[in-house]
Amino acid sequence: MIVGRVRVEPPVMNASGVVASSAAGAIKVEKAGAGAVVTKTFTLRPRRGNKAPMVVPYLGGLINSVGLANPGIGGIREYVEEYRRLGGTLPIVVSVGGETPEEFGKLAAEAAEAGADAVELNMSCPNVSWTASWEDIASIVKESVEAAKTANIPVWVKLGYGKGLMKEVKAAVEAGADAVVLINTIPAMLIDVWSMKPVLGGVTGGLSGAPIRPIAVKAVWDAYREFGGSVDIIGVGGVDGWEAAAEFILAGAKAVQVGTALSLAGLDVIREVVEGLISYSRKVGRPLEELVGAAHQGLP
Ligand SMILES: Cc1cc2nc3c(=O)[nH]c(=O)nc-3n(C[C@H](O)[C@H](O)[C@H](O)COP(=O)(O)O)c2cc1C
Repeated sequence: MIVGRVRVEPPVMNASGVVASSAAGAIKVEKAGAGAVVTKTFTLRPRRGNKAPMVVPYLGGLINSVGLANPGIGGIREYVEEYRRLGGTLPIVVSVGGETPEEFGKLAAEAAEAGADAVELNMSCPNVSWTASWEDIASIVKESVEAAKTANIPVWVKLGYGKGLMKEVKAAVEAGADAVVLINTIPAMLIDVWSMKPVLGGVTGGLSGAPIRPIAVKAVWDAYREFGGSVDIIGVGGVDGWEAAAEFILAGAKAVQVGTALSLAGLDVIREVVEGLISYSRKVGRPLEELVGAAHQGLP
């Protein structure tokens, strides 16, 4: 499948920040049968991340407040080169998190020079202060995509669930994004009733995994209805097996990413999704390409 101007075959990847935080992790994702690897989000400056605990289990999912711990822009080249040196052959999608459109431009240029196959603009991490301070996210999305496009590399935009999501998708499409990645974790927190304090070191965090799947499927569904003809959609949120992946495809995603399930159930989930999708497509007698958005057929 060609997704966001990148050949992703099979159309299954890891989600940013889970498992492939190092090049060695990306090799594991490749060996598990993915069609592309996605890096942890790189920011301009190094970040330590929040206090522990950073990740806690919740209802078959996770709540994390990692806060984009990463070595900064210099880590991008190191990561890509190390992945290739270790024998990695898949397209590599470098996730980047800028505080401003200019920073997104710089990070995208570095990813392109380092030899990445696409850049994924993380515009939706709930665990960093700057995204919370963006008032008009749609216009920041537009300017950031425009800045990243000058780097001459396919640009994917990762967005979060919220009332303004379709406005943000529209801004990404109009600015020429090659794909939208829906969705990031959903802002959340837990309070320990005995200590009477927030459980996470970062106080608040983001919910991921099976509990957010119906929300993520709806986001993909809405984006496909409005923009399906103009942009590729990648579904992420609670994919833990082939059936969940098929739901995203039927809603309109051309590919899926798997995060929390890799952490909770292991890398074998990727193979299970890939093989399950092949056998599903055989059983229903239609190639996967034809199933993209098929759940919309016949609806008003
Ligand atoms: C521990 C953890 C770290 C994450 N780090 C990042 C990150 O660095 N960049 C990003 O765009 N998303 C990050 N995410 C969000 C995931 O990529 C994904 O969008 C979200 O978890 C929903 O997918 P899932 O339910 O399959 O995990 C992280 C999620 C988790 C659980």
